[in-house]
Amino acid sequence: MQLSIIVPTYNEAPNVAELVRRIVAATRRSDEHPGIEAEIIFVDDSTDATPHVVRELAETSAIAIRLIHRELATGGLGGAVLEGFAVASSDACLVMDGDLQHPPEEIPALWERFEQGDVDVVIASRYRGGFSAEGLSDRTRVLVSKVSTAVTRAMFPIKLKDVSDPMTGFFLIDRRAAEAESLTPRGFKILLEILARKNLRIAEVPFHFAGRRAGQSKASVRQGMHFLTQLAALRFGKMSLFAVIGGLGALVNLAIVWALTSFDVNYIAAAIIAAETTIIGNFLLQERFVFHDMKDEASGVWSRFAKSFTFNNAELLIRIPIVALMVSAGHISVVIATAITLIVAFVVRFVFHSLVVYAP
Ligand code: GDD
Ligand code: MN
Repeated sequence: MQLSIIVPTYNEAPNVAELVRRIVAATRRSDEHPGIEAEIIFVDDSTDATPHVVRELAETSAIAIRLIHRELATGGLGGAVLEGFAVASSDACLVMDGDLQHPPEEIPALWERFEQGDVDVVIASRYRGGFSAEGLSDRTRVLVSKVSTAVTRAMFPIKLKDVSDPMTGFFLIDRRAAEAESLTPRGFKILLEILARKNLRIAEVPFHFAGRRAGQSKASVRQGMHFLTQLAALRFGKMSLFAVIGGLGALVNLAIVWALTSFDVNYIAAAIIAAETTIIGNFLLQERFVFHDMKDEASGVWSRFAKSFTFNNAELLIRIPIVALMVSAGHISVVIATAITLIVAFVVRFVFHSLVVYAP
């Protein structure tokens, strides 16, 4: 088996026969191309006749067809795709919609690009090579799609540098590179989740996003909210862990100062030793637990450490005079001034680490 074609379906009974027919035609050996040995895996959460139609097609079609019908759907569309990855016979997994918005005739183009062997994922993009998306029928959908694509790309400027359509549901990926077992799908945009978490070699091919053949789109305001949560979690979900480590660091800092001064070490020396120890300790814990999946292997641990260490020391140096200024000019108590600066510093530190040290 060369290629596993994964099709998530939710009430696509009127569309699947046509889809299978066109996939068979597109992957068949012909004068123009040698053909692709493929299977189709339907991962289905339908409440309509889709599973029956698929079972019939499995008996009559000239292609291997498998059906996973889930009574207890977990993870919606994203979860369905991951289940497809898990059972696929081939590592090369193509994901496409079941409503024919993703034309099966494009499969050979994706496959040919993938077969060149130099990338982990080939993305079929609606935005490459001139905007072509009849499927985004009304102006509102076009606008929503364009704005959310721009926001997403701005949030992951480095990882999505060469990706014009991170929210497409049409792509071919080497499932080993996706490391699907480690993903927790949060919503519709499984590709975005994979791209944001891994460092993949990416290629794009253009395609024309067709209109839905029959039935209704499951996109909704609820899905939109889901998407926003997914984005926020990808970007800021690490913040709480970062805070816990920072808090522990502060406690360790105090303990060291206390221990050293009780051995008669000079207060300033004790404070410096404690601060540097916690800066290094925090860095190691954050490498290991907070940003473990965001490391850019090319940059190297020493370069990340240098950035983190410089930043934290600069922050330490700046914070002291600011506290002094708040106390003298603002008549704020030392404790409150310190607390305020620590909170601000925490946010700035987190933003710096997630955007600069562990650049997205
Ligand atoms: N198994 C399963 N479970 N499949 C689902 C579910 C679900 O909960 N929800 C939707 N699907 C299936 C649909 O049956 C269809 O085959 C495909 O996922 C896409 O769903 P649509 O309802 O057609 O969504 P769309 O057309 O709005 O979304 C398309 O465009 C988005 C970008 O604008 C899809 O291509 C998305 O993948 C893409 O992100
Ligand atoms: Mn659709």
